[in-house]
Amino acid sequence: MKHLVSLDDWDLGNYKDFFNLVTDFKFKKIYCPNKNLILCNLFYEPSTRTSSSFASAMWRLGGQVISINDVNYSSISKGENLEDTIITIGNYCDIIALRSKNAGDAQKASQVSSVPIINAGDGNGEHPTQTLLDLYTIWEKFGRIKDLTITFVGDIENGRTVHGLDKALDSCTKHYADTFDKSIWPASDIYYLTRVQKERGSEGSYSMRKEHIKHIPDNAIVMHPFPRNEEIPKWFDDDPRVKYFEQMKNGLFVRMALLHEYI
Ligand code: CP
Repeated sequence: MKHLVSLDDWDLGNYKDFFNLVTDFKFKKIYCPNKNLILCNLFYEPSTRTSSSFASAMWRLGGQVISINDVNYSSISKGENLEDTIITIGNYCDIIALRSKNAGDAQKASQVSSVPIINAGDGNGEHPTQTLLDLYTIWEKFGRIKDLTITFVGDIENGRTVHGLDKALDSCTKHYADTFDKSIWPASDIYYLTRVQKERGSEGSYSMRKEHIKHIPDNAIVMHPFPRNEEIPKWFDDDPRVKYFEQMKNGLFVRMALLHEYI
């Protein structure tokens, strides 16, 4: 059984083949190869991008979607545990995208599941499909995912998207800034900003200022997994270095390619 619990389950050595498939979905508009297959979106935490792009990806591939996006209306509200929920849903679908509150839940689910589990974010653990779309966005811009310099800015400790990308970019130069206090961030190709993860106990707030932007090289890109709070002001959205809107768009094509590969 092929699961995607962590990026460790992914052979990054073959990333170019996968990214070429993503590009085909993005620009050649290939639809419908997975006819009749069913995805279950099982989300124990809120989501806009991941849940809707997984659903859209499956529909565009010709499949169908069961959405349990508000667990209060499922038997989870009656105390049903994760394992029983996964065993049950495995009878009705071909693949499960699982978002959960606790790091390790996707691993737990994979041990009892009869269908592939895709980790759609587990607490402050990982969010591997976000990492893949982040890597694809970087590759689109630079033509490589090695020998780059990246500065992570924001909630390093509880930002699961940071954890995954940090691990994946193992041959890059990395800097970390857990506050926005420093007015000069290190010269980098990529600035990856994240919000304060208040739902995981992180506190405070920060906002990018004009003095930060002044020092971002012209050819660099600014990424953010979204949702954002106040860390990137809207006045920055039209800057040519902005990649966060493209990043969220790429989420659809990466998930199409992933579903196509997995089932
Ligand atoms: N980036 C991301 O995971 O967004 P959602 O929480 O909206 O899915």
